[in-house]
Amino acid sequence: MGGKNKKHYQNIGSIYNDLWSFSEDYMRFMTANIIKYLRLKSTDTLVDLGCGTGMYSQSIVKQIPLDNPIICVDPSEEMLSQLPSSYQYKTRAVDAINFLSEPEIYNKVFMKEVIHHINEQELLFSSLFKRLPPNGIFLLILLPPTIDYPLFSEALERYKKGQPHYNNLSNLLEKVGFNVSVNFVEYLHAIPKDQYFKMVENRYMSLLSFFDDQQLAEGLAEMSQKYAQQSILEFPDRFVFITASK
Ligand SMILES: C[S@@+](CC[C@H](N)C(=O)[O-])C[C@H]1O[C@@H](n2cnc3c(N)ncnc32)[C@H](O)[C@@H]1O
Repeated sequence: MGGKNKKHYQNIGSIYNDLWSFSEDYMRFMTANIIKYLRLKSTDTLVDLGCGTGMYSQSIVKQIPLDNPIICVDPSEEMLSQLPSSYQYKTRAVDAINFLSEPEIYNKVFMKEVIHHINEQELLFSSLFKRLPPNGIFLLILLPPTIDYPLFSEALERYKKGQPHYNNLSNLLEKVGFNVSVNFVEYLHAIPKDQYFKMVENRYMSLLSFFDDQQLAEGLAEMSQKYAQQSILEFPDRFVFITASK
């Protein structure tokens, strides 16, 4: 992860969960889909690769009892430190590729909204293929090439430039040996405008760390004008779920 992103997650670690806490329904929905696409069973050993604050791991153990702790991996100590210490989680403060060279045993891995931070994607995927046992599953979750978030126009443009295309990733996963299927999962957010503006102000997406304070203030002013009539912002959040099975 580059220095700028590292700093971003250092800054945002302690408030990340608060920024998302408005929507338990969204968390439940996303988690239910993660469980479904991973075909997660109580006896599985799961890795949350690039877990951040471990929000989804915490939500998974509320929905399904797991016999083994979830291995939560993230290079950012600040993000990881938000996970409660519990026998349900085992944390590793390393980056994904280093983690995959360690002799851990697991059969299910998911990685949500992290792949845009990884340069060596082929190495990541081939290492995963080697480490997973037969019938192991890697679930890669990312946003599509364009998003309909109520952000300012420069942010949406910047997003398009930086986001990897799911087709390239699914081809790469096939190339290293996985059986791959691609699905789209959509959630309709309805977020109070003040809450969403607060999230943007706090640069809830790493994308927003490309803008300095002045640019962000201008962006927020643009959003204020555009959404002057709304108190609730409704927008679809689409996720690409790439299921790679060994
Ligand atoms: C947008 S957050 C997503 C966190 C979590 N998966 C979620 O959906 O809430 C991206 C996370 O990727 C982590 N990250 C960045 N580079 C990474 C790498 N090379 N290996 C593993 N994680 C990485 C960051 O520290 C950050 O916590």
